[in-house]
Amino acid sequence: MEKDIETILWTEEAITQRLTQLASQITADFKSTPSSPILLGVATGAFIFLADLVRNINLPVSIDFIRASSYGSSTLSNGAPTFALDLKLDIQGKHVIVVEDIVDTGNTLYCLIAHLKSKGASSVSVCTLLDKPSRRKVKFELVGNGKYYCGFECPDYFVVGYGLDFAERYRNLPFIGVLKPEIYK
Ligand code: PRP
Ligand code: MN
Ligand code: MG
Repeated sequence: MEKDIETILWTEEAITQRLTQLASQITADFKSTPSSPILLGVATGAFIFLADLVRNINLPVSIDFIRASSYGSSTLSNGAPTFALDLKLDIQGKHVIVVEDIVDTGNTLYCLIAHLKSKGASSVSVCTLLDKPSRRKVKFELVGNGKYYCGFECPDYFVVGYGLDFAERYRNLPFIGVLKPEIYK
């Protein structure tokens, strides 16, 4: 796996350090709300980030997953995410924090936020490890007094590891790196 990586952008240590800061910020922002937030991981990519993030949040949070899928085995978004796995929890009147590994075109969040709004969430925040603003096509808006938490701004490379895949592989790399172009060309 490592041999397919051109450059490491964020080591395990750098990720841990940054997510600890994000978790402290979330703890501070939600410690006075009447109900603790629901952290909603977007499967599959967010699974590692969500697991590490929640263990650093000092609040009695709830956890749920939703499945959005738009890339398949291609490196390009098809612009129409589907929600194959829906929420288990009732989010009516609740504060939801969507946890993502990466925001790219914005399509996934745009569709997901509309979905959560229709289910009556009182606020929708987003906590993403990476954001690739250079690739944004759709502008999404948070709900209520939702906040936006972002770990790192990601340059426009195809990155894998720490949950991020290419054709379902490389998710279990402990760091985030740039995939060698010959792997996907
Ligand atoms: C990736 C990533 C985000 C989404 C971001 O998921 O994990 O969920 O794409 O792209 P967007 O902003 O252009 O919508 P993917 O659809 O590859 O599914 P996965 O999480 O199972 O890898
Ligand atoms: Mn995803
Ligand atoms: Mg993917």
